Amino acid sequence: MDYDISAYGDQRPDYDSMGWALRHDEEEASAFLADLAPGGRALELGVGTGRVAFPLARRGLTVVGIEGSRSMAEQLERKISDVTVEVLIGDFADVQAEGAFDLVYCISETFFLLPSQESQLRCLHNAAARLTKGGRVVVQAIVPDHDLFCSTQSTLTRQVNEQGAIIAARRHNRAEQRVDVQNIVFGSKDPAYYPMHYRYVWPSELDLMAKLAGLALASRTGGWRAEPYTASGGYVAVYEKN
Ligand SMILES: C[S@@+](CC[C@H](N)C(=O)[O-])C[C@H]1O[C@@H](n2cnc3c(N)ncnc32)[C@H](O)[C@@H]1O
Repeated sequence: MDYDISAYGDQRPDYDSMGWALRHDEEEASAFLADLAPGGRALELGVGTGRVAFPLARRGLTVVGIEGSRSMAEQLERKISDVTVEVLIGDFADVQAEGAFDLVYCISETFFLLPSQESQLRCLHNAAARLTKGGRVVVQAIVPDHDLFCSTQSTLTRQVNEQGAIIAARRHNRAEQRVDVQNIVFGSKDPAYYPMHYRYVWPSELDLMAKLAGLALASRTGGWRAEPYTASGGYVAVYEKN
């Protein structure tokens, strides 16, 4: 399948109302990120509709976002807000945002949307190059659930209720750590389709790629409230520039 940086966003014109797909962690995320760079400059990789970028800007940071989908960027720009978030259109593995940043962050497993180890490594090099001395890179990701990926294909019932159901059909390439997913939302209308393609990484691979980019792991917690890291589910990793 050809890689297209705009595909994910272009297929989600209703991103903010996809309650089932969102994390609803804007306040915790922005509080955690703001503490790492009080009053500083932050760069979000895959900023989307600004779900976390706006609350972060409201906490006094200057926030710039990189976004591959014009449709997503337009959803962000349409938002009426007391703060501004500048958006740069392009691939966050490569776009060189101007100026130095105290914080570069990539949340909601967006890092996994980069299609190959090579692009993920390039992204971390690019992030490190944007940082001030002592600056940090934050990645929110998950420890892949090995049980889900033990076969080459699977389905997952994400949600079921009286009104309908949300089913994810998945195909897995174990050698490349790549998963193609079609999320299908059944309800009163015609089914809606939300495809996604990602390359997952284990925490150890992420740490190694970060190290190769000159970034050392400072902490890995189970979430934004510094919950203990349990090597399952989600985590937040903080890297510092060497
Ligand atoms: C899962 S959404 C997360 C959006 C936002 N960070 C949030 O937490 O709500 C991923 C976003 O990254 C964008 N994206 C994916 N790959 C990208 C790439 N290579 N370069 C730039 N943006 C990308 C998508 O268009 C989408 O807006």
